[in-house]
Amino acid sequence: MPGSQRDSMNNANVMLNETFGWISITSGFVTGTFLGLRFHDDNWLGGYASFKRRMLRLGHISLFGLGAINLLFVLSLPRMSGPPLRFELARWGFLVGGVAMPMCCALTAWRMKLRTLFVVPVASLLTAGLMTLFGVLGL
Ligand code: HEM
Repeated sequence: MPGSQRDSMNNANVMLNETFGWISITSGFVTGTFLGLRFHDDNWLGGYASFKRRMLRLGHISLFGLGAINLLFVLSLPRMSGPPLRFELARWGFLVGGVAMPMCCALTAWRMKLRTLFVVPVASLLTAGLMTLFGVLGL
């Protein structure tokens, strides 16, 4: 791929994944603030170890983790090589996973049977991780 085309694609990736990363991390602070309104209550949503409460905590934590992973992707991007499809799969996989994972946690906290939806973030994040790994290794 010509250098200038690669550069402009990289800039677009950097913008979207970096912005999303910070939105996700800030959303983690916001959800933490809401959890903090009731966290002193041992019986809230069935107690600290209840499924609902664990799912909400997982969603809160995933906002930080996946936000940071989107930022890490931006750091690895300049050292990645391979076909354009690899970059697109990685870029969109991290974005889709970053949105879908906390959403699935919230939906599953609401209705346990919706847990099958986790296939969406799991598949997109696995794909994105593999594409980034291959890109960094130059395979
Ligand atoms: C504005 C900042 C934050 C607030 C207000 C906040 C609030 C909370 C609250 C209230 C809980 C307990 C929820 C419950 O009782 O069920 C919690 C759990 C947790 N938070 Fe945050 N949090 C914040 C930032 C962070 C950050 C930066 C991280 C990590 C990167 C983080 C990771 C965790 C983890 C791992 C748990 C689960 C702890 C456990 O189960 O032992 N939080 N947070």
